[in-house]
Amino acid sequence: MITIRQATAGDEIAMQHCNLTNLPENYQMKYYLYHFATWPQLSFVAENENGRVVGYVLAKMNNDEKDVEPPLNGHITSLSVMRSYRRLGLAERLMSQAQRAMVEVYGSKCVSLHVRVSNTAAFSLYKKTLKFEIDSTEAKYYADGEDAYSMKKNLDGLYATEMDSIDF
Ligand SMILES: CC(C)(COP(=O)(O)OP(=O)(O)OC[C@H]1O[C@@H](n2cnc3c(N)ncnc32)[C@H](O)[C@@H]1OP(=O)(O)O)[C@@H](O)C(=O)NCCC(=O)NCCS
Repeated sequence: MITIRQATAGDEIAMQHCNLTNLPENYQMKYYLYHFATWPQLSFVAENENGRVVGYVLAKMNNDEKDVEPPLNGHITSLSVMRSYRRLGLAERLMSQAQRAMVEVYGSKCVSLHVRVSNTAAFSLYKKTLKFEIDSTEAKYYADGEDAYSMKKNLDGLYATEMDSIDF
């Protein structure tokens, strides 16, 4: 059985391994720790029955950008699932957990991400399964010169917050 749980400091080596195995966009260890320290509720791992991390979503809020007023928007920094664990719905579950936490913890109204225009598996996940829309195409966004779709999803009303259930 695969368990989805919040990522914590201590998962960064396993997450980095999953990242290096599956994606050309790689990060220094301190970038994972920066996410955990700043937005501890937003990143999740998928763990198999032996306690091995087989997927992750690394997520943040955009309050490290200048001139951004609340309500803050969420952003998916990175998502990866190990090959032998794909098409089991893990990415969908990881993304849903991150989206829910963005709403419940930060009152986020929107979540954004970038995806390579050639990444048909990820694009299909975002567009068909998770209902993201293309916001724009960013030319040569990636280091190798490939374009990115900048995608967004409205989170307004998707997840009930604790405040919604209180009768005044
Ligand atoms: C993209 C990725 C995260 C999907 O992970 P996953 O756990 O296999 O995805 P899920 O099982 O949750 O798939 C949900 C839906 O996404 C779509 N999807 C996933 N993989 C797909 C593929 N290879 N081809 C077409 N559609 C795909 C399907 O609509 C799927 O629903 P279905 O299985 O009912 O048809 C995984 O393939 C991966 O890690 N790829 C390498 C890293 C990467 O590209 N990360 C994203 C960077 S933006």
